[in-house]
Amino acid sequence: MADSLVIYYSRKGQNYFSGSIRSVSKGNTEYAAEYIASAVGADIFEVDTVRPYSEDYTECTEEAKREKKDSARPELKEYIPDVSQYRDVFVCGPCWWGTFPMAVFSQLDRLDLDGKKLIPVMTHEGSGLGSCESDLKRLYPGAIVGEGLAIRGGEAQSSERMITQWAKRAVGKD
Ligand SMILES: Cc1cc2nc3c(=O)[nH]c(=O)nc-3n(C[C@H](O)[C@H](O)[C@H](O)COP(=O)(O)O)c2cc1C
Repeated sequence: MADSLVIYYSRKGQNYFSGSIRSVSKGNTEYAAEYIASAVGADIFEVDTVRPYSEDYTECTEEAKREKKDSARPELKEYIPDVSQYRDVFVCGPCWWGTFPMAVFSQLDRLDLDGKKLIPVMTHEGSGLGSCESDLKRLYPGAIVGEGLAIRGGEAQSSERMITQWAKRAVGKD
């Protein structure tokens, strides 16, 4: 039975890569989440919203800005009901206005995270981990927030080796 879980959100559709917009079928964070899961033998769960975000990059940034301002908790297609079997939970997502997309918190809010180690992983275009570590600490005070990993979005796909080594270290499996 796996003792680690990877929860991730990653957006398909238009994204910026070194200043130009390209449409992708797999988002940056999804690469990182999959590398982590295979590195440590974790179960993996994708957060997906009932109402899709706009395919259009700029519109999506506006939607995300509104959701952050409202501390929205958009409805998800599916939720993990319980994480009692896991010791470590990697929380992976893109940086959206400095923190995880609100949809990630839609899932986390439903879980009993007391005593769990939450390990943030954020792909970004310059903001690094933003406020995600302090947000996790504030919202889930019973959890232990481990040292996070920030990855440049466009480098996620080609960073399997680095991500694998980091993930093993993060859960003491190196
Ligand atoms: C709605 C939205 C907001 C974003 N806000 C930020 C930001 O505040 N800081 C940053 O460095 N990158 C920001 N980005 C860029 C993404 O964090 C980056 O491209 C990320 O790797 C996308 O991951 P994904 O492909 O897994 O969705 C934003 C992108 C979107 C779509």
